[in-house]
Amino acid sequence: MRLDNRVMALKMLFDNLGKLTPSSAIAGELGVTRQGISKMVGILRDEGIPISSVPHKGYVLEGPPEEDRFSPSWAEMLLWDCPLGHPILHFERIESTQNPVKDLAQKGHPEGVTAVADRQTMGRGRRDRRWESPEGGLYASVLLRPPILPGHVQMVNLACAMAMGDAIEAHCGIKVDIKWPNDLLVGSRKLCGMLSEGAVEADRVHHIVAGIGVNIKGSPTIQDSPQDVTSIAEEGGTLVARHDLLASFLRSLKHHIGILCEDRKAFINSYRGRCSTLGRRIVVSSDSGTLEGLAEDVEDEGSLLIRTSTGLLRFSAGDVRHVRPIKGGEGE
Ligand code: BTN
Repeated sequence: MRLDNRVMALKMLFDNLGKLTPSSAIAGELGVTRQGISKMVGILRDEGIPISSVPHKGYVLEGPPEEDRFSPSWAEMLLWDCPLGHPILHFERIESTQNPVKDLAQKGHPEGVTAVADRQTMGRGRRDRRWESPEGGLYASVLLRPPILPGHVQMVNLACAMAMGDAIEAHCGIKVDIKWPNDLLVGSRKLCGMLSEGAVEADRVHHIVAGIGVNIKGSPTIQDSPQDVTSIAEEGGTLVARHDLLASFLRSLKHHIGILCEDRKAFINSYRGRCSTLGRRIVVSSDSGTLEGLAEDVEDEGSLLIRTSTGLLRFSAGDVRHVRPIKGGEGE
């Protein structure tokens, strides 16, 4: 994986944070002219990254970018040794971040390209719902090409949920629960939703476009959904910058997909330990209707087993609502 020169220059400055990085060192390392460096620094500054120049000597990175602005170069720099998140395409406004990534997937672009938008005008949720996407949330889609069987695609959704759970807990200091398959809740309120769309043949997975929406400041309403929503701000969590949260999510996603590919049993066991749906009475709505039962297990390929009055049923997709608390825990 070869990083873009602009991201490599930023990495050199970052490794020397607060100190002078000579232009000659950047030029020597990257094989670019001083004018080339000055142009790259201009782009980085336009992304809100504070870089000062010392005339005829070099540049100093003064600190992280402004928190409210999304810096694609900063996120890519944090992912310098991770294959996901290269390149990161940033849009101020787009219908849905799923669209550009799907187009690139169909053109054969390699795994890792990511799209991020400040807001979406036609954000999509699961089951054809709208995902309201005002400014203040993280809206991102990443192209994945995992070497897995078509029957295991559902597990990539589970990996996304664990990865975003890791990232939010690490940066925001709030505890999140995973509701099967991949909603992140605080108590009974939804903080983050995920949608994956893919091209799968009988014997192979071409690509998966995994889209995530995290409510950082606002609480978008999810059209037609009975689910209450919340945000990191409403939960009193640390307001993480989107570039930091995204980088952390992608790094963790790579890790979980690695485990999924190497040891599926270990992967699913770790998911079972984090899925707050297990052991609860739930209502599941799917294309074949709605029913209530006890969530008994998550099977090895990621489907949910539910004990109902008529026996055990298996769901590979569907909307789950938790209806009863686990022994003294919080319910809806
Ligand atoms: C859900 O819980 O229903 C899934 C919500 C997924 C929303 C994200 S935001 C980024 C990406 N682009 C979209 O249009 N949807 C996903």
